Amino acid sequence: MDIKVGGASGYDVRFLSSDATWDGINRSGVVITDSNLHSIYKDCFSTESLVVIEAGESSKSSEVYLSVVDQVLSLGLKRNGVVWAVGGGVVGDLAGFVAATVHRGVEFVQVPTSLLAMVDSSVGGKVGIDLRHGKNLLGAFHNPKEVRLSTDFLNTLPPEHFTNGMAEVIKYSWIWDVALLDRLKAERLTLESSDLREVVARCVSIKRDVVEADFGEKSGIRAILNFGHTVGHALETLDGYTELLHGEAIAMGMVAEAAIAYRAGISQIDPLEVAEVFDLYGLPVRPKGQVDLNLLVDLMMGDKKNIGDGLSLSLVTVPGECKLCHGVEPDMVQSVLADLWT
Ligand SMILES: NC(=O)c1ccc[n+]([C@@H]2O[C@H](COP(=O)([O-])OP(=O)(O)OC[C@H]3O[C@@H](n4cnc5c(N)ncnc54)[C@H](O)[C@@H]3O)[C@@H](O)[C@H]2O)c1
Repeated sequence: MDIKVGGASGYDVRFLSSDATWDGINRSGVVITDSNLHSIYKDCFSTESLVVIEAGESSKSSEVYLSVVDQVLSLGLKRNGVVWAVGGGVVGDLAGFVAATVHRGVEFVQVPTSLLAMVDSSVGGKVGIDLRHGKNLLGAFHNPKEVRLSTDFLNTLPPEHFTNGMAEVIKYSWIWDVALLDRLKAERLTLESSDLREVVARCVSIKRDVVEADFGEKSGIRAILNFGHTVGHALETLDGYTELLHGEAIAMGMVAEAAIAYRAGISQIDPLEVAEVFDLYGLPVRPKGQVDLNLLVDLMMGDKKNIGDGLSLSLVTVPGECKLCHGVEPDMVQSVLADLWT
């Protein structure tokens, strides 16, 4: 069930067995992975042409980026070489940015191993690293030559990271696909679900459809992928990227943004209905402790989607549809969050 992204000159997301995924990886170019994957799959990696970064978001830094560039050049990566990114979203974003910039761009292949990377970060061509000014601030659009996707990798993924990825799966259902929403509500999707691959493939094709409609983020369509992310990113920044996983932050963000849409009269969806789905998957629907709402709304005011006065938020209007709304009153947002979280 391959999924083509970007038309004739685009690339395929190929659904493979784990054996087929490894085929040829160690024979050409340079493989980049993280320390966790390296220790679990050490027999699959060759010892040559391999770069191993520390697992975790802190590796998406300028220091690690320059060190990886140095290592791939020392390993002899040429202009016609290939970078293989074997890992979650951190490896994919960093390795993809290395591939986008070394020799002014070499080919790369994404081999996503986390649920989040399979359904989201490996498709769409956004690559980059974090700076002290914020997340993903240095980056590029650089499409992979191919995405090799094997859901077998999920068997070794820690359960909290499976749950983390489920937040993005649930997001797709609210913004685009009511049938998927009904499926996710009817029975908890788990590693054992017979339709796991089908659900992953559905998410990949939704991401493909959205990205193809607005590759360079010009028309605002791609912004619908940010449902829950304006509040979610602000919560992550307040947390300092220490405790909260991205999926947890955006789950709380989606409930909050559903409540904002309801108060603004943009949607009739009861935010409790949104919260129930996240509850089913063990995702948080409100922050654990007290949140400084002045600071949170200030952080939201710095979001790059904002145009003109007020906030720009991607809000679900009816289940399965989402639109970017401009000029949302910050005071109203603060009052909604105060009612929801206190
Ligand atoms: N480029 C994009 O469009 C895009 C979209 C969404 C998120 N992202 C980025 O993705 C990153 C988050 O991705 P993530 O959640 O995959 O985080 P991650 O890459 O840190 O992976 C999560 C953890 O799971 C481990 N892991 C991954 N696959 C495994 C496996 N099969 N078996 C055992 N352990 C495994 C990793 O070592 C890590 O400890 C963030 O940096 C975010 O900014 C990018």
